[in-house]
Amino acid sequence: MKLIDTHCHLNDQALYQDLDNVISRALQTGIEKMVVIGWNKESSETAIKIAEQYPFIYACVGFHPENLDGVNEKTLYEVLNLSKHPKVVGIGEIGLDYHWEKDPAKREIQKEFFIKQIEYANEHGFPISIHSREAFQDTLEILKNHRPQHSGVMHCYSGSVENIKDIINLNLYIGLDGPVTFRNAKTPKEVAAEIPLERLVLETDCPYLSPHPLRGTVNEPANLILIADEIANIREMSKKHLLEVVYDNSCKLFNL
Ligand code: NI
Repeated sequence: MKLIDTHCHLNDQALYQDLDNVISRALQTGIEKMVVIGWNKESSETAIKIAEQYPFIYACVGFHPENLDGVNEKTLYEVLNLSKHPKVVGIGEIGLDYHWEKDPAKREIQKEFFIKQIEYANEHGFPISIHSREAFQDTLEILKNHRPQHSGVMHCYSGSVENIKDIINLNLYIGLDGPVTFRNAKTPKEVAAEIPLERLVLETDCPYLSPHPLRGTVNEPANLILIADEIANIREMSKKHLLEVVYDNSCKLFNL
């Protein structure tokens, strides 16, 4: 079994406090590589620190749209310039979150920082990890006007089957997470069935979004296999083949 968790937050205190055990459980389930994603300055620095300790762990740095309070040009580029570290493989997670942000002025700020971070990634040769929650149309418009030049992933994709083609037209990958396994999840299962296999990557987004039957517990990379099992079932294909293709996709996405 060869697995890559392309979006995990081992830099979150819930996992970081027990890092060695979390990582050894991951390795026992067949996880070979993990990409730790930052959401602000401190978490981006911690992501790099973890990547320095383990040869099979990589980092992404950036500002999540809900972590922009008090961020200015100086702090933004301080964090983006952490990408000069050899273990940094992407910029993220970046994007728009209209679920938590209702203030139109603050949504404009999210857009502004999203664009700046895409442009930085384009200039410096990085893929991006995109967070988009209840903001698909605006996310898409920005991506069309500021096209990612080195690919990227629509992380934890929660949109419709119809919108998959818009993402693929931008040469992006689609990340699926725990919600695919939820018993009542109709759309995520339809999406899992329809994504072209060569565009699919798997992620836990741990410590959040534990897959069924572990919902409500602290998620960790070891649980990625539950997501793979469910997608193989939905697509009626062998798990071995699914994982081979997804492994290649993940390596291509982040140049691992
Ligand atoms: Ni995340």
